[in-house]
Amino acid sequence: MVQDIDIADLKKITELVQGKYGYDFRNYAMSSFKRRMLRILELKNLTIESLLKKLSDQPSFIEEFLDELTVNVTEMFRDPGFWRIMRDEIIPGILLNHKTFKIWHAGCSSGEEVLSMAILLKEMGIHQDVQLFASDLDVNILEKAKAATYPIKNMELNEKNYIRYEGKKSLKEYYKEENGKAVFDKELMQNVSFRKHDLVKGEIFNKFDLVLCRNVMIYFNQSLQNEVLKKFHESLFKYGYLAIGSKESLIWCDVASKFLVVNNEEKVYKKIKD
Ligand SMILES: C[S@@+](CC[C@H](N)C(=O)[O-])C[C@H]1O[C@@H](n2cnc3c(N)ncnc32)[C@H](O)[C@@H]1O
Repeated sequence: MVQDIDIADLKKITELVQGKYGYDFRNYAMSSFKRRMLRILELKNLTIESLLKKLSDQPSFIEEFLDELTVNVTEMFRDPGFWRIMRDEIIPGILLNHKTFKIWHAGCSSGEEVLSMAILLKEMGIHQDVQLFASDLDVNILEKAKAATYPIKNMELNEKNYIRYEGKKSLKEYYKEENGKAVFDKELMQNVSFRKHDLVKGEIFNKFDLVLCRNVMIYFNQSLQNEVLKKFHESLFKYGYLAIGSKESLIWCDVASKFLVVNNEEKVYKKIKD
């Protein structure tokens, strides 16, 4: 079992992945990147040399590698207070000026965040008026998001979060139980466009009234966070909102002065300058 990886080996892996496949992990936060890499070596029973060989000889391995490298942990109505602010302040704020609008979930993982938004919009009676875009780097996790089907054991936490969010129904009303899985109503995902999108490359593909990128930038170093935040600024309409994870912040970044802090605890910002 590989106990440790030195920087030179990490560099060999990131350079190979970048050169051959175009994914750039050089600006990911070093400590978590290293932990994930050690985990891959252990899970796949590989040495650094055999990992490098597999990556260079077996192109089909890259998707499995990305799936293991990225941290996909997520929940429905994660941080219920955040969702209450979305429902009671942010979405009503957007509705003051637009009857229809667009939301981007960047780094959507297996889709629980998107599903939470769809339920929130449905309970507000505006589900049909909002276009949702959900993206992630990891195509395997995007397939899970599209299926909107989760192990039933996850539903206890999801239900608890939904109760703390003070939803209008019981979460059970939105899914059917089939073979130990919670299969969510397909209609909820009807207005969602899924796409593979790499935040590091930063391609801007639309303009939005609200961007959620929660618990994604914690895996990036400061300079990459800064670049990604610039892209979010560009992707937002003026007076649009940006929501990031509760452990993240944008007060230090280059575009900080172009945003207003709307809620400091739940990390919601409003774009006030182009
Ligand atoms: C911890 S999950 C966050 C999920 C959800 N936003 C939440 O807060 O519960 C982080 C997600 O970011 C994605 N990710 C990591 N690097 C990315 C990149 N460069 N571009 C797009 N997504 C990325 C991962 O694949 C993973 O699904």
